[in-house]
Amino acid sequence: TTAPLVLGIETSCDETGVGIVRGSQLLANTVASSMDEHARFGGVVPEIAARAHLEAMQPTILAACDEAGVTLADIDAVAVTAGPGLAGALMVGVGAAKGLAASLGVPLYGVNHLVGHVAADALDAASIELPTVALLVSGGHTSLLHVRDLTEDVELLGETIDDAAGEAFDKVARLLGLAYPGGPAIDRAAVDGDPDAIRFPRGLTLPKYREKHRFDFSFSGLKTSVARWVEREQAAGREIPLADVAASFREAVVDVLLTKALDACEHTGTRRLLLGGGVVANARLREVAAKRCADAGVELRIPPLALCTDNGAMIAGLGSLAIAAGYEPSPADFGADSTLDV
Ligand code: KG4
Ligand code: ZN
Repeated sequence: TTAPLVLGIETSCDETGVGIVRGSQLLANTVASSMDEHARFGGVVPEIAARAHLEAMQPTILAACDEAGVTLADIDAVAVTAGPGLAGALMVGVGAAKGLAASLGVPLYGVNHLVGHVAADALDAASIELPTVALLVSGGHTSLLHVRDLTEDVELLGETIDDAAGEAFDKVARLLGLAYPGGPAIDRAAVDGDPDAIRFPRGLTLPKYREKHRFDFSFSGLKTSVARWVEREQAAGREIPLADVAASFREAVVDVLLTKALDACEHTGTRRLLLGGGVVANARLREVAAKRCADAGVELRIPPLALCTDNGAMIAGLGSLAIAAGYEPSPADFGADSTLDV
């Protein structure tokens, strides 16, 4: 028997993603992004994102079918991100998924966005190797998960208590006069910079936080610290060494992300670390992750970038796993939950 053909819909942030999979076979991964519309605001504007999803939804579904070489009538099940994410954005996806599933007469599965990021690895590797620690870093979330089973044993070890890592890149880029999105701009600015030029704070790493916030993150203090440093230099009439500031800021983010991720591996006795989310594009993060994982004897898994950034294929992949595990479809009246737990 062949696995069911599953269409997945993702709208938790600013990407309208539609993916189609059969089992762990990736057939389509189509994404429309409203990123450009948010650029002049320096961050994702929820209302704009929701409206953009509404406009992009139908064309993206049809484009995904085209890419997979199937028609809507071939779809056996629909999966959709139920949360966490931006409430209005999620509602557009859940509404579209409900309409689609009802009209096709197929089951609908509401799934968790963060677990979807982990499921993305199954589409790359054909089967996912568990257990794993997963570090998920994007403009909307920064979370550390311990995953023993994708559908029934996912533990949230920690998350950001203020800004997401990608958000920190976007905000610091803005205060340095760099373009949006800030991650790629800071990566470029940092190329010839000295990562040790300025010692910016590593949030929540002091021993006093070990009890309550061992695996949590905080980036808003870092952002403020960069802002104060730049103000002081300007007030003293000195020119801002952009490359050094960018490299030192980036180093602080990367250092704290990987220190906590590898501490989580040690704490849970896990010899595998999976990265997901748009910040995974960061050149320094990839470099330091490779080095520290090798030193610690931890296997590092990084899916291709198109499966790391928000996408519908990972949601279809997780739906597919839920079906294989024998889960019941979501009840007809399920809603979008912006703070959905793993
Ligand atoms: O997963 P993603 O595409 O979706 C959203 O969260 O919307 O992630 C986008 C985030 C943005 O905050 C962007 O600045 C960040 O990922 N990002 C990066 C890099 N490329 C994108 N952050 C650091 N370095 C990069 N090279
Ligand atoms: Zn995401």
